[in-house]
Amino acid sequence: MEYIINGGRPLCGEIPVYGAKNCALALLGASVLTDDDLVLRNCPDIADVANMIVLLQVMGKKVVRQGDTVTLSGRLTSICAPRSVATLLRGSALILGSAVARYHQVALPLPGGCAIGARPMDIHLCGLQALGVDVLDTGDMVSCKGVPKAAEYKLRFASVGATENLLCACVLAEGVSTLVNCATEPEVVALEQMLVQMGARISGAGSSVVQIEGVKKIHGTEFVVIPDRIVAATYLSAAAATYGNITVTNCCPQHMGAFLDLMSRRFDVRCRSDAIDFSAKRAPDGYGRVETAPYPFFPTDMQSLLLTLAACSSGKTVIVENLFENRLAHNAAELNKMGADISVENNVATVYGGKLHGANVSASDLRGGAGLVIAALAAEGQSAVSEIRHIGRGYVDLAGNLNKLGAEISVRD
Ligand code: EPU
Repeated sequence: MEYIINGGRPLCGEIPVYGAKNCALALLGASVLTDDDLVLRNCPDIADVANMIVLLQVMGKKVVRQGDTVTLSGRLTSICAPRSVATLLRGSALILGSAVARYHQVALPLPGGCAIGARPMDIHLCGLQALGVDVLDTGDMVSCKGVPKAAEYKLRFASVGATENLLCACVLAEGVSTLVNCATEPEVVALEQMLVQMGARISGAGSSVVQIEGVKKIHGTEFVVIPDRIVAATYLSAAAATYGNITVTNCCPQHMGAFLDLMSRRFDVRCRSDAIDFSAKRAPDGYGRVETAPYPFFPTDMQSLLLTLAACSSGKTVIVENLFENRLAHNAAELNKMGADISVENNVATVYGGKLHGANVSASDLRGGAGLVIAALAAEGQSAVSEIRHIGRGYVDLAGNLNKLGAEISVRD
């Protein structure tokens, strides 16, 4: 399937943002901690969430989806994650911590390296070992066994997934655990908040040092998935690239500081508590030098959006990708097919902005795919963006939503 996109149409109008993929996946993983009902509202209807739900169902959880509300209940009947589903999404790793906490064992087939580069699990596994859990990593399968005991552990890097797994692993561990150098992404903080609502004793939530006092039982709750900051940034980038004028609603500008900082120095950006008014009149003179880094700095997940914006600016931009080794080169090559001037060396892209023209390009990962769609919206003439299955992993009907803002995108089999 591919998108056929007629570019050059400014985006205008109002568009709401739905729940964040990376928040929903972490909360779904944490459902394993309790047999009670866990009710998740604002859960996005995307392939990664659907696959995570299937994974949990195959392992024994009862899951009911009604619109945007997903209710999970019951025990796991198997501690082995099914290979056919587990290998489809990296988020499947987010059951490790809660399964070890609740069932004292779990076996998870590992997804291989994906299109954005190698994604090792050493921090997740070392952390579990520090809690006294035996870990066997055979390269394509991880097995963990043992009752987690409170400990102090310093993550060598503030990994989002490892922080989430270790938080879940600690909540039932006897004693007080201290996790040092935790990720502080809003999705991690949402998980911490939900765990507290479920009866966990956590102090320092939202900071890089988190203390968890183990409790005997975690109970059910109802929780709202936070708005997807990457989706909000995607809509804003599409408006910027087409000199549009949009309002993004149901979002959380507070979670988007680094991105909004960069944009508000170049465009008219007005933030309200849960909405952003945005208007772009001309191409900016580049974006300077931007490096990706863990929250609160510029997120790697917005890097491919920025690469496109830089390519259609009127100046020079240097983008340094510090998190994933292979998240720049593919889109740079595809954008160059559209007339961009981007050179990449060792994860540093040097971009000289200019006008883009339509071309046939291909998505190789989720965020990169969104970056190419935006480039096609900005380009003169028609483009085809193929391999759009990657985009469906994390965006709810990206074409339909952009079309509501005046884009001209159709889907071709
Ligand atoms: N890393 C290790 N060892 C580990 C874990 C991570 O070396 O044990 C490295 C990774 O290789 C990478 C860096 O640490 O270089 C950051 O990885 P992190 O663990 O923080 O990422 P993640 O938890 O695997 C989540 C999001 C990603 C997002 C990153 C960074 C989920 C399901 N995924 O991944 O989202 O890019 O954090 O913010 O939460 C996406 O949505 O498109 C996406 C890739």
